[in-house]
Amino acid sequence: MPLPYQDSSLPVRERVEDLLGRMTLPEKVGQMLQLDARQDIGEIVLEKLAGSILHTSPAKLVEAAELVSRTRLRIPLITAEDCIHGHAFWPGATVFPTQLAMAASWDSTLVERVARATAVEAAATGVHWTFSPVLCIARDLRWGRVDETFGEDPYLISELGAAMIRGYQGDGLTDPTAILATAKHFAGYSETQGGRDASEADISRRKLRSWFLPPFERAAAEGCRVFMLGYQSMDGVPITANKWLLNDVLKEEWGFTGTLVTDWDNVGRMVWEQKVCADYAEAAAVAVKAGNDLIMTTPAFFEGAQEAIRRGILGEDDIDAAVRRILRLKFELGLFENPRTPDAARQAEVIGNPAHVALNLEIARRSLVLLRNDGVLPLAAAPSKRIALLGPNADDVSTQLGDWAGDSGQVDWLPDGHPRELTTTVLDGLRELLPDGWQLDFDPAVEIEKLVPDPEGETFPDGQPRPPISVGVPADPARIAAAAATAAAADYAIVVVGDTVNLNGEHKSTATLELQGGQIALLDAVATTGTPMIVVLIDGKPHALPESALGAAAIVQAFNPGMRGGQAIAELLLGLIEPTGRMPISAARHAGQQPVFYNQTRGQHGSRYADLTQDPLFAFGEGLSYTTITYDGLSIEEPDVAADGVVRATVRLSNTGTRPALETVQVYVSDLVTSVTWASRELKAYRQVTVPAGESVTVAVEVAAADITLVDADGKRVVEAGDFELLVGPNSRPSALLAAKFRIS
Ligand code: NOJ
Repeated sequence: MPLPYQDSSLPVRERVEDLLGRMTLPEKVGQMLQLDARQDIGEIVLEKLAGSILHTSPAKLVEAAELVSRTRLRIPLITAEDCIHGHAFWPGATVFPTQLAMAASWDSTLVERVARATAVEAAATGVHWTFSPVLCIARDLRWGRVDETFGEDPYLISELGAAMIRGYQGDGLTDPTAILATAKHFAGYSETQGGRDASEADISRRKLRSWFLPPFERAAAEGCRVFMLGYQSMDGVPITANKWLLNDVLKEEWGFTGTLVTDWDNVGRMVWEQKVCADYAEAAAVAVKAGNDLIMTTPAFFEGAQEAIRRGILGEDDIDAAVRRILRLKFELGLFENPRTPDAARQAEVIGNPAHVALNLEIARRSLVLLRNDGVLPLAAAPSKRIALLGPNADDVSTQLGDWAGDSGQVDWLPDGHPRELTTTVLDGLRELLPDGWQLDFDPAVEIEKLVPDPEGETFPDGQPRPPISVGVPADPARIAAAAATAAAADYAIVVVGDTVNLNGEHKSTATLELQGGQIALLDAVATTGTPMIVVLIDGKPHALPESALGAAAIVQAFNPGMRGGQAIAELLLGLIEPTGRMPISAARHAGQQPVFYNQTRGQHGSRYADLTQDPLFAFGEGLSYTTITYDGLSIEEPDVAADGVVRATVRLSNTGTRPALETVQVYVSDLVTSVTWASRELKAYRQVTVPAGESVTVAVEVAAADITLVDADGKRVVEAGDFELLVGPNSRPSALLAAKFRIS
């Protein structure tokens, strides 16, 4: 006879209560542990009785499932991984562009399809849960994790984040191809000081509600099953202890009934880093009482939580509440009936299959942003041309794939990354696609960095390895001269520059935004040859470009475009596809302009520094096509709108060129007088529209008045009646936008 918790015909609630009633305190506390499977997996499962594991190699995924069968209650493990742009730590899986690159597509349907494909690949390997999407708002470009975000705008982040959640979670938890999505890092983590990772976030509750919380509220409404905390403290309170945010806002206000996971050793950090708890018993009590369920990679929580109960600073009821939520998730996923262990046959069918490769190419194409073009692109179809392909990122697989992929450093079972043939670099792409008779001369010419050990030691205080430090390698004058000669002899010089995975990521914020190593010297040298220069940027964040690059004939921003990125870039340069990407984040002229996001609060004296404009180098929403689209005739249907009404408008787009365009029509709203200072304009809607060459189309756009809100002085989100402007155009620059007035009564 199966025990009640093993009986799938019983309601989940009954099964949870039955199982909980059978569990010892160590078994309950163990369920709350999510441990690093790179450590001793036998100890994790059999001694710490962990409920969840992460960073599990293909071999250990199989081993872990077997170990569970030796435990007393055989509670299945839930396995998690950072599949944040594809199941990118699985050998041969599809590595899509990074989140920032995908955001440049502004295409939620495409992003949802990417997440779906990722879930299908991950589910076949025995991974049940991904730590994605990142819903942080990237404002300071020096922060190391800009590449993991959807950029700077709360509305765009919400749209794309919701799409990713839908894609991962598929038809719901019983769908065998679904994986759990995680909205992270809740909330305010990205509001760094000086760009430094996980520093105290100087952020008020009103500011959180104004900009940082909306994407998370949307994720909760979308049914995202897990929220992960950030690392930061706010107003002196570590996020792990923030009852207001975790309980009052997330659970009570938004009605979130899912599971909360801490970030990496957050509980330990309260002891050894933030020093707000004297020991692990105190830290365990604080974390559990604040509503955390799964405790990521703090093995000492196991003893700490039990000690806290002995001391009377934590009740077993508090533990029970968390364990109930974890068990419920496992029952709802059906893991007791089908633990969803690795399925080799299914892997052979889905990992990196042709449909996923084709989707990867599609999103890579849509992620490219053409920022400047004096007409040099697309490269003229001519019988014979000579191309100089220069720069360190023209043939660099790891930068093209970006952080959290292959050998980027977070896991240890892919020391050589993915099979080389799965990635097409720019060099590969051009070799493949250049017309017959064209000549290609390739020379990386400079290096970006060399890696040296961190002088502060090999490990952090918690024993984690410290990443090596990236030190710029100066240009070699002889190699620069050779590269300049190659460029001078060519019809076009394509220079592929950017950064590396060592200049992005956790603990890898940068002090500057400049191109490192010999790259500026290379750009300067090529610029002096007079050969038309096309700069391609493969990087984790927008860089402050030198004058030589800004004077280039064309600039293409690719971010980290994934395995098919090189092919997509070659196609774009050769005019085989249309450029359609739009910047999801503003680029700065200088690191000192930080932050340079478009939706800043009104009320500053003047609009420039004494020594520099405040104007961004490239603004949020910017991007060109191979044609020109003009906007005119913005007209609002009914300029008096009720608070529950909808602002409806039309605008005419005319394609004055000879190539088609996929135009992203951006709709901003400006509230002309506000009870509190507020952003001068905010993105409220956008539409992607095909405009055939030489034709005009009329596009209808709309914004619900209920979405035209601000957060008032009491921290309440409200619609304030009064006068507004609807701003419609191709990007967020005021000069690019048509305006029409309306009123909300
Ligand atoms: C720490 C990172 O902040 C988080 O984003 C990630 O999901 C976890 N580590 C697990 O790798």
